Amino acid sequence: MSIRWFFFLTLISFFILISSDNVSGKRVWPVPYRRFDHRPPTDPYCQALYPFCPTGDPDGRIPSMRNSDVISVFRLQTPVWEFKYGDLLGKFHIMHDAIGFASSETGRNYTMEWYELFQLGNCTFPHVKENTMAPFWCNQGAACFFEGIDDVHWKQNGTLEKVGEISGEQFNNLAQWVQQDNDTGIYYETWTVRSDPGPNATTWFDSYDCSQFVHRTYRKLAEFGAKLSSKTQTNYTKIYLYSGEPIYLGDDGSIFDQPSMKDLATAIRKFYHSFQPHQSMLQFILSLMEAYKKIILEKSFYLFYNFEYWHLPMKPPYIQITYEEVPLP
Ligand SMILES: *[C@@H]1O[C@H](CO)[C@@H](O)[C@H](O)[C@H]1NC(C)=O
Ligand SMILES: *[C@@H]1O[C@H](CO)[C@@H](O)[C@H](O)[C@H]1NC(C)=O
Ligand SMILES: *[C@@H]1O[C@H](CO)[C@@H](O)[C@H](O)[C@H]1NC(C)=O
Ligand SMILES: *[C@@H]1O[C@H](CO)[C@@H](O)[C@H](O)[C@H]1NC(C)=O
Ligand SMILES: *[C@@H]1O[C@H](CO)[C@@H](O)[C@H](O)[C@H]1NC(C)=O
Ligand SMILES: *[C@@H]1O[C@H](CO)[C@@H](O)[C@H](O)[C@H]1NC(C)=O
Repeated sequence: MSIRWFFFLTLISFFILISSDNVSGKRVWPVPYRRFDHRPPTDPYCQALYPFCPTGDPDGRIPSMRNSDVISVFRLQTPVWEFKYGDLLGKFHIMHDAIGFASSETGRNYTMEWYELFQLGNCTFPHVKENTMAPFWCNQGAACFFEGIDDVHWKQNGTLEKVGEISGEQFNNLAQWVQQDNDTGIYYETWTVRSDPGPNATTWFDSYDCSQFVHRTYRKLAEFGAKLSSKTQTNYTKIYLYSGEPIYLGDDGSIFDQPSMKDLATAIRKFYHSFQPHQSMLQFILSLMEAYKKIILEKSFYLFYNFEYWHLPMKPPYIQITYEEVPLP
């Protein structure tokens, strides 16, 4: 392990959790994730280094199962980009989650996951361009459904576990829900923002990522009457920020198009200038380290959520990556 990694890990584990009083505000916390009517086309500025969902149906169609079919449901988890960086990110517990399905009538199986169109770096940090005042985000995320389960990929350094069975009819209902969820929930949100790490903390913002999709799907299945259970603890990655009550700032129009807001606009640009979106997961981690140093120094973070900016008065332990249990419904 390099000195930098060691330094980062030490910092993260060093900061002891300090508890704080919850601030009661007029706002609804956590701020609800905004749903849209439909998914807009991506901006041509956003160019994916790796194509999104290469083996999925181009129109996102999900095959229909016979109502009488019995479909096995699998919990799938693997360290992010392990093929490039060994299990380093596994040690950090930055995991990717998905769900598998196998039809007993046809013997075919399928993988379903939700992830970034332009990778994690682009969903976490915007592009600060010379000629445009507002930072530019390539932050769409979407569901991908494709035939096949790569057993080795999930099993070897992660998890492939059957957690239940559903009927073909339940599967078809789920498929319908997935399409709708995919059309209305279109932006990836990396951070979960809380008031402190304690059990009674207020959550200011929830993330919207691959594991949240998996949780939503399990809840939907439970709603349809499915019984799900796991023999092991079901843990998931969370990337936390800790702050006092967030302060609403505005959207692109009210911040970057208003001469009177120039100081704020400049501060946001300056903040994000240090963390340009990155090509690789390793660079993303290095950026998180930069973010960590900057946050400790300035106790300040500009969060972009629902296409609006918020100011977070940051407090210890500032930022944490955890791998914690979220039980099946
Ligand atoms: C992030 O977005 C930029 C701008 O479109 C693009 O050039 C880059 O390839 C994207 N990164 C990844 C990993 O897709
Ligand atoms: C979800 O939306 C993306 C982006 O439009 C699309 O590529 C994908 O096929 C859709 N997935 C499903 C399961 O509908
Ligand atoms: C599992 O991790 C090892 C070591 O980190 C790596 O060499 C191997 O390729 C990984 N397996 C898979 C299926 O990605
Ligand atoms: C999925 O199907 C492939 C090909 O038939 C098979 O090798 C694999 O074991 C199956 N995986 C699961 C989890 O059903
Ligand atoms: C959390 O709240 C519960 C119920 O109000 C209380 O019993 C418990 O002591 C609190 N825990 C902490 C760590 O503040
Ligand atoms: C899983 O989560 C539980 C509770 O959140 C925690 O105690 C446990 O250490 C976690 N397991 C791993 C492997 O991190």
